Amino acid sequence: MNLHRNTELIVALDFPRPDRALELVDELRGKPVIFKVGMELFLAGGPDFVRELVHRKARVFLDLKLHDIPNTVARAAQQVALLKVEMFTLHLSGGSAMVRAAADVLSEIDLLRPRILGVGVLTSFDDVRWAEVTKALTGHAATPDDSAGGMIEHAVAWGADGVVCSALELVSIRKQYPTLYTVVPGIRPAGFSADDQARVMTPAQARLAGADAIVVGRPIIEAKNPRSLCEDIMKELSDAAISA
Ligand code: C5P
Repeated sequence: MNLHRNTELIVALDFPRPDRALELVDELRGKPVIFKVGMELFLAGGPDFVRELVHRKARVFLDLKLHDIPNTVARAAQQVALLKVEMFTLHLSGGSAMVRAAADVLSEIDLLRPRILGVGVLTSFDDVRWAEVTKALTGHAATPDDSAGGMIEHAVAWGADGVVCSALELVSIRKQYPTLYTVVPGIRPAGFSADDQARVMTPAQARLAGADAIVVGRPIIEAKNPRSLCEDIMKELSDAAISA
């Protein structure tokens, strides 16, 4: 348990249109949440949409999962920093040179430095599909758990500030890396459908397991009253800390 930490709420703005995303942002105005902009919304609204969020004093997590040659990712990371987002993702499978290149370029810039979050193995991989990839790459099949564990071990040494991990991985990551910054998707308040998430945790469970931030998308964006659901989730997070 890491109850000295707060667990923050990240709202996934999984909308195909910037105007609909901004409606939700306005509805949640004043709430201490972070907004996650993924590939779909970024492609629809571009960097101008991110600038608009920042202009509205929103905290932004840019989830584009960068993966390219080190020079390209370093230059992209520089652009991310210019957007003044709080954190962004890259694939740890891009390797040490790629992650370090991003970390190095950020250490040189004279701006608020965004947090680099490493993505290990996407949670959409099952054992069979991951075995296909690892066998093609190395000749040996590996499990997603083994590969993710191995990559997380390197994440910090390579210059990442934290990781995106599944609720299931969180428990073992916390045992091994008590201070690593963790962002956890696949969160559902009790009574909500898991949708396509394979293994879910409630906000309270994630808080007790030591998540620094949880990501909630569909339950909030499809809610009749997203503002009150966010309030409920934040209360559940703080109650979990009190009752522990
Ligand atoms: O709607 P839901 O709460 O399932 O949305 C979760 C968000 O977190 C989505 O934007 C999804 O792309 C993202 N995500 C995830 N699993 C990961 C990484 C990111 O669900 N491993």
